[in-house]
Amino acid sequence: MQRLVKGDAMIKLRSVPTESAQLVLTDPPYGIGYQSTTGVKIKNDERPFIWWMHDAHRICKPGGGILCFTRWDIQDSFKLAIEAAGFKIRSQVVWDKGGNGMGDCKTQFSPRHELIWWATKGKFAFPNERPLSLISVPKPRGNKRTHPTEKPVELMYQLIEATTRPGDLVVDPFTGTGASGVACTLSGRRFFGTELDGKYARKARERIAAARGMSHDDYFNR
Ligand SMILES: C[S@@+](CC[C@H](N)C(=O)[O-])C[C@H]1O[C@@H](n2cnc3c(N)ncnc32)[C@H](O)[C@@H]1O
Repeated sequence: MQRLVKGDAMIKLRSVPTESAQLVLTDPPYGIGYQSTTGVKIKNDERPFIWWMHDAHRICKPGGGILCFTRWDIQDSFKLAIEAAGFKIRSQVVWDKGGNGMGDCKTQFSPRHELIWWATKGKFAFPNERPLSLISVPKPRGNKRTHPTEKPVELMYQLIEATTRPGDLVVDPFTGTGASGVACTLSGRRFFGTELDGKYARKARERIAAARGMSHDDYFNR
């Protein structure tokens, strides 16, 4: 079952049964007032959007976990929210996205990475070998991009493979254009996602449907 619902995660997550998901994998609005070079903004990005965290904990199975994207300057807000909801922070994953980043060219090191908090609910053990805390995958670029802060399917795939088993349910409250949903489809995981913005939700549905029946290699060797 792959399901992408257009709407507010704060409401739509209520329909997800308690303790049904093995993993909440999500890239929420960071709260940094992001604006792309073409002026596109992210909804609810005025301050760290953390208000869904208790529902994330409710729907997570004991023995499951959460992978929550964040950034160096707002990571503390997300850490506090993850812990306050009842998860135990275990470690961080660093996504090396390659290339040069934006920001103040005179004072800041050019940002080449993003951070992902990893936290668990109760007793957890990785299903396969112990994964590394650094994942290097280039960020989507140019006309292949479908969302201003799109994450690569390959990155989502590696995170899902490291923390879940085939058939597990993965939930993404902030699906954007569906990288997490596509990765679940390729790896045989069930997916439930929500997305507030109608045009991104439509694109996510299209991308998830296009990946149906494909393996990882089929998808990347198209
Ligand atoms: C950082 S982006 C996620 C991008 C996604 N990882 C991708 O690869 O396309 C955050 C997304 O959360 C959505 N969003 C903001 N507030 C929301 C809410 N209350 N419920 C559901 N989605 C929301 C935004 O429209 C945006 O697409």
